[in-house]
Amino acid sequence: MNCIKSSRWLRMVAAGIAAAAVALPLSAIAQQPIVIKFSHVVAENTPKGQGALKFKELAEKKLPGKVQVQVFPSSQLFGDAKELEALLLGDVQLIAPSLSKFDRYTKKLQVYDLPFLFDDIEAVDRFQSGPQGQALLTSMKNRGLVGLGYWHNGMKQLSSNKDKLAVPDDVKGLKFRIQASDVLEAQFRALGSNPQKMAFSEVYQALQTGVVDGQENTWSNIYSQKFYEVQKTIAETNHGLLDYMVVTNAKWWDGLPADVRSALADAMKEATAYANKLASDINEADKKKIADTGKAKIYKVNKQELALWRKSMEPVWKKFEGDIGRDLIDGALKANQ
Ligand code: LMR
Repeated sequence: MNCIKSSRWLRMVAAGIAAAAVALPLSAIAQQPIVIKFSHVVAENTPKGQGALKFKELAEKKLPGKVQVQVFPSSQLFGDAKELEALLLGDVQLIAPSLSKFDRYTKKLQVYDLPFLFDDIEAVDRFQSGPQGQALLTSMKNRGLVGLGYWHNGMKQLSSNKDKLAVPDDVKGLKFRIQASDVLEAQFRALGSNPQKMAFSEVYQALQTGVVDGQENTWSNIYSQKFYEVQKTIAETNHGLLDYMVVTNAKWWDGLPADVRSALADAMKEATAYANKLASDINEADKKKIADTGKAKIYKVNKQELALWRKSMEPVWKKFEGDIGRDLIDGALKANQ
């Protein structure tokens, strides 16, 4: 009898242990923080690099123990070619490609690539925060992407491995690296140059080895990637914009617990304000740092020369007006006033 009792007792203990073994991992899983991988292609000492780190700090502060943000800069995790795909596959949760890199998902964002569209970054700000700019954030939802905000880098400058870079004739026949954008391709074709789409991480080597003669970028990218070491002249043209959209996977975002999503949205809003405030200071400081190295000559194009660049690039607008929509172009122009 005693023996029967004790074996029943043993079976009960065993069942209890088994139940606990099943319950434990579940409770442990429930306590695991949500891991948010934020991948980008630039260095940490850039507007985007700083914005990503600020977002991590704010998100983890607002949601202690609930989220862990892992930032991967400098194409460490995914480069240009793969990051959008990786986001859609759920291999990464946040990326911030430049607005030039969404061609495959929407034609509307091409508006931002039109040369000489915005007078300055304040005009860009007005357009992005207005109804049309905000509507563009959700314009790719049917493709599985949601924009959480715009981050500035700044205006692009033109650089080449030649001593003279003052007027459009100086780039005729030269090979230029461009981002994956049809508008930028048309822009360089309009100048009589040969554009070549290329991932950001490959540009330094391509310039160094002469695969391409030049490129266009912001001061912060030219400085942090050391392009000035392998270019002779940088012309200060401010001819176009390089800004970002921070995007996430729509399904992942919608599936987050409501309190987490709302705290992350707040963190993004604050990180956006922080990064956008920093952007022009970083670019100005980097321009000065490049000048101080004495490695590439900085040439400030004058008013007459600028008019020639503008005129040469003008045909691009007509070519893309149909895809972009006249309403968006007009809205952007209105932001200049
Ligand atoms: C580029 O490819 O030149 C830029 O879009 C890189 C970046 O993210 O600023």
